[in-house]
Amino acid sequence: MYHASADPATVMPAVRAAGHVRVPGDKSISHRYAMLAALADGPSVIQGYLSGADCLSTLECLRGLGVAVHRSPDGVVQIQGRGIAGLKAPTAPLDAGNSGTTMRLLSGVVAAHGFRTVMAGDASLSRRPMKRVINPLTQMGATIGSEDGRPPLTIDGARLHGITYRPEVPSAQVKSAVLLAGLQADGETTVVETYPTRDHTERALREFGAELSESNGHVRIASGQRLHGRELTVPGDISSAVFWLALAAATPDASIEIEGVGLNPTRCAALDVFRRAGAAIEIDTDRETGGEPMGRIRVSYGSPRSFEVTPDEVPGLIDEIPGLAALGALLPPWSEMVVRGAGELRVKESDRITCLARGLRILGSRVDEFPDGFRLLAQPLAGGIVDAVDDHRLAMAFAIAATGASGPTTIQGGSSVAVSYPGFFEALERLTR
Ligand code: S3P
Repeated sequence: MYHASADPATVMPAVRAAGHVRVPGDKSISHRYAMLAALADGPSVIQGYLSGADCLSTLECLRGLGVAVHRSPDGVVQIQGRGIAGLKAPTAPLDAGNSGTTMRLLSGVVAAHGFRTVMAGDASLSRRPMKRVINPLTQMGATIGSEDGRPPLTIDGARLHGITYRPEVPSAQVKSAVLLAGLQADGETTVVETYPTRDHTERALREFGAELSESNGHVRIASGQRLHGRELTVPGDISSAVFWLALAAATPDASIEIEGVGLNPTRCAALDVFRRAGAAIEIDTDRETGGEPMGRIRVSYGSPRSFEVTPDEVPGLIDEIPGLAALGALLPPWSEMVVRGAGELRVKESDRITCLARGLRILGSRVDEFPDGFRLLAQPLAGGIVDAVDDHRLAMAFAIAATGASGPTTIQGGSSVAVSYPGFFEALERLTR
C-alpha cells in the first residue's frame, strides 16, 4: 500500500506495478513552442503545454516581454506573436524560477532586442553556469553582465551578427540559444556539435516556417526569416516516462503502458539502456505531431541485471540518469550500475551525482562517487528519510527506488515534482496500489 502527500512525500513499498499512464507534455518542447510562438507573426495555439512550474516560468517571462499569453485550465496555451525582434522592453526583472532552459534559451531571444533585460532565478538556478550562453551571445554582439558567470543576467541586446560556434560541452540549451539569436541576427549562424543533443529547436523552427540546414553535426540558420503562428500539440515527456520504465523494469510481474509519449530519436537513448538492464520494452511510433514522432511504450518486468552508461551515451540521456539510478538501486543484490562521462550532472538543478548518491545510500544502496559519475552496488533497500534538495528528478528517482524498499520512505522536497510532472505522486499511487 502506498501513500503520498506533497511535502514531505511518504512512499510505501509497491504491491504491484501495472496500468496505463499518460505523462504530461514535454518540458523542452513546451518551452520552445512558447518562445517561437512569441516571435512568430500571428496567433499560435499550443495543446498539451506542460503546466509544470518551469514552463509556466517561460510564459511569465514572455508576458514580461509584452507577449499576450492565455492559458486555459485544460492546458491549452494561446500566444499572440509579436514577430521577429518584436518583443517589448520589460519593466521589471524576469523570473526564470528553477528553469535553466528558460534562462538560457530566452537569453538568445532577448540578446537580439535593443533593450535591457534582467533575468533572475531561484537559489538553485542562481548557482548554475551561464558562461556557456554568455560567451557565444557576446561574440554575436550582445553585452551581458552576470555574477561571475552566474545569474542574475543583465542582457543589453543589440543588432547581432551570425557566428560559427562550437559549444564547449554538448548542450541543447546552448545550441538553441545560439540558433534563436542567429534567427534574429545578420548573416548566417552555425552551431557545430561533437555529440548530437536533442533537436527540438531545429524541428520546432521548421514547424514555424524557418529553414535550417543540418549536416555532419553542423546546424545552420540564415537571417531574414519570419515565423508563422501555428496550432501545435506537445507530445508527452519521455524524461517523465522513464520513471515508469524504471518502476516496471524493477517490479516482478509488472507491466505498464505509457501513451502519447514523444519518441524523438535524440531523446530515446535511455530506452536502449533499459533494454540492456533487462527490461522488456515494446515501442509503437504511431504518429507525428509538430515534426515530433510520438506513440506508445509498453514496458514489462524482464530479467533485471547489471548495466553501464557509457560517456558517448550521456548527451542523449542526461535527464534520464536519475530514473536509471532508481532501477540500479532496485536490481538484484550485488548487481552494478556504472555511469561515466556525466560530469554535467553536477550542474543540473542540483549536484545530481552527490545528491543521488546520498539519498540512495540512505535507502540502502552502496554508491561510489566519481568526478564524472558513480558506481552503484545494489543491496536490499530498507527505506528511510531522504532529501530531494528540491530537485524534481531526484524526488521522482527516490520515489521509484522507495517502491522496492522493505519499509516506508519519506522524501523531503517531494513537492518539487511539480517542476516537470504535476500529479506524479497520484500516478504512482494508481500504478502501484
Ligand atoms: C534541455 C537540455 C538539457 C537538459 C535540460 C533541458 C533543453 O540541458 O538537461 O533538462 O530543453 O534543451 P543541457 O543543454 O544543459 O544539456
